[in-house]
Parts: sequence; C-alpha cells; structure tokens
Amino acid sequence: MLRVSQLLALGSAVLPLIHAQTLTVDGVLVPANESTVAPAAEIITGDLLHEETVQLTDTIISNLTDLSLTNISLFDFASNTTLENGSLPECKTYPGTALWPDKLIWKLLDLLTGGALIETVPIGAACYDDSGHYDEARCSYILTQWYNSTLHYQDPTSVMSPLYQGLTCMPQYNETGECTLGGFPSYVIKATNVAQIQLAVNFARNLNIRLVVKNTGHDFNGRSSGAGSLSVWTHHLKSIKFYETYETKSYSGPAFKVGTGVQGFELYEAAEKYGVTAVGGEGMTVGYAGGYLAGGGHSPMSPHYGMGADAILSIDLVTPDGRVITADETQNTELFWALRGGGGSTFGVATSYTVKVYPKLPIVSVMTFAFGTNENVTLATFWAAVKAYWELIPTFNDAGNYEYWNIFHTSETGVLFTMAPWFAPNMTTVQLQALTAPLFAKWEELGLHVEPVYSEYNSFHPAWKAGFSQEAIGHWSGKTAARLFPKENFEDPTKFNATFEAIKSVVDKGGQLVGFGITGGPGPYPDNAVNPAWREAAMHVISMLSWADGTSMEEVAILSMKLTNEWMAPWREVSPGSGAYNSEGDVTEPNFQQSFYGKEKYERLYNLKKVVDPTGLFYANLGVGSEDWYVTGQIVGLPTQNGQLCRL
Ligand SMILES: Cc1cc2nc3c(=O)[nH]c(=O)nc-3n(C[C@H](O)[C@H](O)[C@H](O)COP(=O)(O)OP(=O)(O)OC[C@H]3O[C@@H](n4cnc5c(N)ncnc54)[C@H](O)[C@@H]3O)c2cc1C
Ligand SMILES: *[C@@H]1O[C@H](CO)[C@@H](O)[C@H](O)[C@H]1NC(C)=O
Ligand SMILES: *[C@@H]1O[C@H](CO)[C@@H](O)[C@H](O)[C@H]1NC(C)=O
Ligand SMILES: *[C@@H]1O[C@H](CO)[C@@H](O)[C@H](O)[C@H]1NC(C)=O
Ligand SMILES: *[C@@H]1O[C@H](CO)[C@@H](O)[C@H](O)[C@H]1NC(C)=O
Ligand SMILES: *[C@@H]1O[C@H](CO)[C@@H](O)[C@H](O)[C@H]1NC(C)=O
Ligand SMILES: *[C@@H]1O[C@H](CO)[C@@H](O)[C@H](O)[C@H]1NC(C)=O
Ligand SMILES: *[C@@H]1O[C@H](CO)[C@@H](O)[C@H](O)[C@H]1NC(C)=O
Ligand SMILES: *[C@@H]1O[C@H](CO)[C@@H](O)[C@H](O)[C@H]1NC(C)=O
Ligand SMILES: *[C@@H]1O[C@H](CO)[C@@H](O)[C@H](O)[C@H]1NC(C)=O
Ligand SMILES: *[C@@H]1O[C@H](CO)[C@@H](O)[C@H](O)[C@H]1NC(C)=O
Repeated sequence: MLRVSQLLALGSAVLPLIHAQTLTVDGVLVPANESTVAPAAEIITGDLLHEETVQLTDTIISNLTDLSLTNISLFDFASNTTLENGSLPECKTYPGTALWPDKLIWKLLDLLTGGALIETVPIGAACYDDSGHYDEARCSYILTQWYNSTLHYQDPTSVMSPLYQGLTCMPQYNETGECTLGGFPSYVIKATNVAQIQLAVNFARNLNIRLVVKNTGHDFNGRSSGAGSLSVWTHHLKSIKFYETYETKSYSGPAFKVGTGVQGFELYEAAEKYGVTAVGGEGMTVGYAGGYLAGGGHSPMSPHYGMGADAILSIDLVTPDGRVITADETQNTELFWALRGGGGSTFGVATSYTVKVYPKLPIVSVMTFAFGTNENVTLATFWAAVKAYWELIPTFNDAGNYEYWNIFHTSETGVLFTMAPWFAPNMTTVQLQALTAPLFAKWEELGLHVEPVYSEYNSFHPAWKAGFSQEAIGHWSGKTAARLFPKENFEDPTKFNATFEAIKSVVDKGGQLVGFGITGGPGPYPDNAVNPAWREAAMHVISMLSWADGTSMEEVAILSMKLTNEWMAPWREVSPGSGAYNSEGDVTEPNFQQSFYGKEKYERLYNLKKVVDPTGLFYANLGVGSEDWYVTGQIVGLPTQNGQLCRL
C-alpha cells in the first residue's frame, strides 16, 4: 500500500494523499476520485496548440512529492542522477512480475491524467465467448470492416499489420479460443493534452515499463504495439494552426502547426481551406505528423518539394526525461536534425510539428490505366511494356510526376499492371499527354493498346481525392520488403537491364509489387536525418510474398526469411549502397542501420539516442538503438512485439 508521504493537487488546494483510494481533506478521509483529485497539470502560455498549453511542470511535481512504495517517484521528471547512474535492469517490468504496478497505482495515473487511462480490450475481444466483451453485432461489424483503416485508427490499440502484434485475439465468428493481450499494450493513455503524455513518460520510465506510441496504427512493422506496455495514443491531438507568414532564421512564408494526431486527409482539407499545398503522403488515413514525418515521409509532391520531413521548421516534443522541448534550427539542433527522418518512437513523443506549406497549385492532372496478360498480350509483351515504362522513369521524375503502380497475379499465369494513379502536379492533361506520348507509342509498337483515363483539377486536394482511394489494410497472410532504386540504375543501360531482371524476378517467383515513380526531391536538401538513399532515388518498390490462410507460424517464419534473404537479394545486388525506406521496409531488413538510415547518419543518430534516452525508454523494431534490445519468445525470422522487451 502507498505510504502517507504524498501530496496531490486538488483544484487549487493541496491535500495529503493517504492511499491511492483515499485522501485526507481537513483531517477527513474521502475517496480519491475524479472530483477530489485534479489532473496534474498547469496552463502554460506561448505560441502553442491548445493541447500543448496543458503541461506537467516542476511546480505540479513539487505538489506531488514522493508518491512511492519504494524510493521510486512515480511521476517525477528524470533527474540527472537517475539518468546517469540509474542501474539499467535487463528487462522491462512485465505484467505478472512483482514490480508490475497494481490496479491502485494505475488508478492513480488515471486520476492524475484526468481520466485518460484505458485498460486494453483487444479489438477482436467482441468475437470471443469468454473474453467478457462478447458482442455479436460488434463482432460482425469488425469482421466486415477489418480491411478498413477507419476501424483500426479509431481503436486505442489496434494495428493494421496484425502479424507483428502477434496475431492474438484475431476476430472470427463464433470464436471459442482464448483472447489474450499478446503484443497489445496493457494500458493506454488517450492523450488530449501534453501533461498526460508527460505523466505517461515519467510513469513508464520511473517504473521501467515499456512505453509504446500509437497514432493511427498504420505502421508496417508492429512499431505501434508492444506487450506489457503503457501506450500513448496521440490520435486525438488534432489542432491545426495556419500562419500566413512564419518567420525563422532561414524561412519566411506560410506554415502550418499541426498536432501529431492529424491525418493525411485532414492536412489536405486544411491546405485546401487556406489555399496552400502541403507535402504529405498519398494514404488517406495515414498519420501525417506521427510515423510519417518521423520516418521521412514520401509524397505525391516529393518530386517538386522533397520529403515530408524536409518541410519541418520546428518540433515540440516530450523527451524521455518527461520535459517539453522545442527543437528547431536554433535550439536542440541535434534533435531537430534527428527527428526529421530518424524514425518514430525513438527520441520522445512529438506533440506538434510546424511545417512549410507551398502556394496553391494552379493545375493538377491525374491519369489511370491498367494492362495485363490476355489472349492478345503475352507475358513477354507484358514485361516489355513494363520495361518501357521503367526505362523512362527519369524523364517522368524530372517532370515532377509521381506514379503509383501495382503488379499482381490474376491467375496462375496472368499478371496485371495498374497505374493508380499517375499524378502530375502543375500539368494540364495536354501537357501530360505530350510527356507520356513516347511511352504510349512504344506500347502500340509492342502491340499493346492502353486507354488511359485523364482528369484535371485546379488544386491538389480534389486531384488527390480523385486519385487515391482509402487503401485496404489489415492483411496478415503476406510480408513486405522494399528497396529504393537510384537514378543511375535507369540511366546506365547495363544496370538498367540488371535492375529490370532483378525486380521482375520477384514476380516470376510468385510475388507482387507496389511501386512508386518518385524522387526525394530536386534539392537543395536540408541537412537532416532523411535516408540519403532517398536523394538518389528514382523508384521505390515494395515487394510482397503471400501465403495461404492457416499456414503455421513456423512456416511463415521460413517464408519471411525467404523474402528477405532470397527474393530481395537481387534487389540489393543491383543497388549497392542504396537502401530502403524505414517506414515501408522489411521487418527483418539486413544491415538495417545502413539500409534505413545511411551508415554515417546512423552513427550520429545512435550517439544522440544514447544521450537523449540513456535508459532506453523508447524502442521501435529496427529503430535507432534497437540492436541493443530483443523481444523474448520469438520464432527466428518472424519478429513480433508479443514478448518481454529485454537488453541484449
Ligand atoms: C495504406 C498506407 C499508405 C501509406 N502511404 C504512405 C505514403 O504515401 N508515404 C509515406 O511516406 N508513407 C506511407 N505509408 C507508411 C507510413 O508512413 C507508416 O506506416 C507510418 O509509420 C505511419 O505512421 P502513423 O503515425 O500513422 O502510424 P502508427 O503505426 O501509429 O505509428 C508509426 C510509428 O511512429 C511512431 N509514432 C507515431 N506518432 C508518434 C509521435 N507523436 N511521437 C513519436 N513517435 C510516434 C509509433 O510509435 C510507430 O513507431 C503508408 C502506410 C499505409 C499502411
Ligand atoms: C468522490 O468523492 C467525493 C468526496 O467523498 C464524493 O462526494 C463524490 O460523490 C465522489 N464522486 C464519485 C464520482 O465517486
Ligand atoms: C502547489 O501547491 C501550492 C501550495 O503548496 C499552491 O499554492 C499552488 O497553487 C499549487 N500549484 C498548483 C499548480 O496546483
Ligand atoms: C530507500 O532509500 C533508503 C536510503 O537510500 C534506503 O535505506 C531504503 O532501503 C530505500 N527503500 C526502499 C523501499 O527501497
Ligand atoms: C543536471 O541538472 C542541472 C540542474 O537542472 C543542469 O544544470 C545540468 O545541465 C544537468 N546535467 C546534465 C548532465 O543533464
Ligand atoms: C555517477 O557515477 C559516476 C561513476 O560511478 C560518478 O563519478 C558520478 O559522480 C555519479 N553521478 C551522480 C550524479 O551521482
Ligand atoms: C471505412 O469506414 C468508414 C467509417 O465507417 C466509412 O466512412 C468508409 O467509407 C469506409 N471505407 C471503405 C473503403 O469502405
Ligand atoms: C455462429 O453460431 C450461431 C449459433 O450456433 C449460428 O447460428 C451462426 O450461424 C454462427 N455464425 C457463423 C458466421 O458461423
Ligand atoms: C484481342 O484482340 C481481338 C482482335 O482485335 C479483339 O476482338 C479482342 O477483344 C481482344 N481481346 C482482349 C481481351 O482485349
Ligand atoms: C508550375 O509551372 C509554372 C509555369 O511553368 C512555374 O512557374 C511554377 O514554378 C511551377 N510550379 C511548380 C510547383 O512546379
Ligand atoms: C538490354 O536488354 C535488351 C533486351 O534484352 C537488349 O536488347 C540490350 O542489348 C540490353 N542492353 C545492354 C546494355 O545489355
């Protein structure tokens, strides 16, 4: 039980805490509940989003002294001493072990965060007889909506690549099996202000509990889940502030300051409203200011304006010590460098980004088409057509176009190419037709007649809406990997032939492709942690290996390694020194430090990680510093977040 050495803030009064369940008010014991315990927060002023005006401060902490069973202060900021000389336990505190906090302590966190704590109920629990949450109608809804991202981003813990959570408590009709938490966090702080995030960070650090950050759950690699963790859910940090002119040492122009829960579609709606163009992803519901910006962020506008992270002017962040800092070109400059490409869940919890925005586009053209093998189109013709397109990629890159294409199997022998869409900012359809005429002529020469559909818009938002639909997510019967192919691979004929054969080989083996004709921008590039491979890139390709439902996890692990070691080897061989995009990469990427971050940048990021997060509060699979950790109980080749996080 808690000792009586504690003070809790109660409105403006200060009361001694006797017990997590009771308080002494004027000598009388009363229940500790939402009306007697005020959230631990103070209102701060400044150029802040309203969520950021509510913060945990030293004053508040001094009114909450020594809230402890032991000598650990549950909610205190990290002191120099705890950071420098705290002994570092081998593993994170895990549910079921003696150090795991009991319900009273969690209740206290709930009270101090103003009722923001949620105990995890896995999304599939509604389908399980004995879960205590069985609900037939809800289960049906979950099953029909499973591939819809909206279902998952509205849930505090659901993730869209469930394989890497550990596939526990998957929804099925009439499920009688056990619904376990698996790789889901134990508790979640539904953050609506920064104080709650600070309390979660301090609580997790002081109690050596694994901390997870979830925004939308779009992550490819399970990085927004983690067994036995406390998760910070940033989805509700939705403010957007527009500056007609935002001034820094090196920039003067329009900008947005966005909360880290803002999603792609919300960013673009705001840009349309204020008459500007923002650099965000293609994915409708993907978080903008979460994993996307942290990982670099590629955009339909990248060939014009560079990566999403290149537009960042300033970042507000809760650091691992629980403090709120601003990182920009004049303060916390090393963090400012690292947070622009160095990956999410590594240096802290970002609470807002201020980003450059660009003038409204006067015109945007969108083109879609598809072709596949059929009675008139042989496989050889199909591949000759694909090759003709890839060969011209640098031309389309230089014109600032962005192409989003797929190649997938339609039958044992059939393959289909879809362009969905070809996106041409600042071009009329007539200009786009002229640009692509040589490609269509080449296809006619090959005997392939392709009829594209064109449309034209007078700004980015309607073109983006027309071009990109809400993508299906949630699959777990496949694994993806990826590679960035440099421009020189398309310009040098020998390299180009080898590149073509390497990429095609994955389809020949039964794989599918999702590709992007895209660049990391025309430059000059700001000095940041964006993977240097992006700066040379002309094409980004994602490969996918699928398996049948019901395949055992042992077999899946073997297939996972097959994709990584066999199928992807030719891709790496033709692009030595290049890399892959960390946010859409292989969960078992070899030499991930070089591939995802670039060798030199990785060293710099790793050194900073040691200074900023000396206790290893933040962890992300294949994130900076992740090589120092492992998750227990894993099958080699199939890393999930279902296990205890321990130091190597
Ligand atoms: C359908 C789809 C379309 C996509 N389209 C694009 C695209 O066009 N361009 C592109 O570049 N990428 C794209 N991606 C990849 C996308 O960038 C990553 O999946 C990204 O990690 C998603 O970030 P999130 O915040 O939405 O997801 P989450 O899964 O919630 O978070 C991803 C990672 O970021 C961390 N994180 C989130 N918020 C914060 C925060 N505030 N502070 C610290 N860490 C945080 C999480 O801990 C996790 O490690 C797409 C993905 C999908 C599934
Ligand atoms: C909280 O405790 C106070 C003081 O005892 C009591 O009056 C109030 O009804 C309680 N509120 C709730 C929601 O339990
Ligand atoms: C902290 O406690 C002091 C009294 O010790 C009180 O005056 C002050 O208002 C409290 N601060 C906050 C932010 O609650
Ligand atoms: C707290 O610290 C004191 C002094 O360092 C020590 O004697 C005591 O054993 C500690 N108590 C616990 C519960 O760790
Ligand atoms: C330790 O804390 C003091 C006072 O807050 C600060 O001045 C000093 O820079 C800190 N040292 C380190 C290594 O963080
Ligand atoms: C931490 O430990 C080192 C080495 O044991 C010692 O020199 C240093 O003074 C300690 N720092 C603090 C703040 O206790
Ligand atoms: C996903 O669900 C949302 C909310 O129910 C709905 O508006 C949207 O149309 C669905 N998307 C798809 C692709 O079905
Ligand atoms: C679930 O079980 C009920 C009762 O046994 C049955 O009526 C129903 O058809 C089953 N649903 C499915 C999808 O199998
Ligand atoms: C193949 O070509 C013939 C002759 O031009 C045409 O009639 C037929 O529709 C074509 N088939 C397909 C699938 O396009
Ligand atoms: C669009 O085209 C116009 C005219 O060619 C040019 O001045 C402008 O810079 C272009 N804008 C972008 C974003 O490329
Ligand atoms: C590339 O492949 C094509 C088709 O196989 C061939 O005609 C051409 O000579 C090759 N180019 C080089 C440089 O090897």
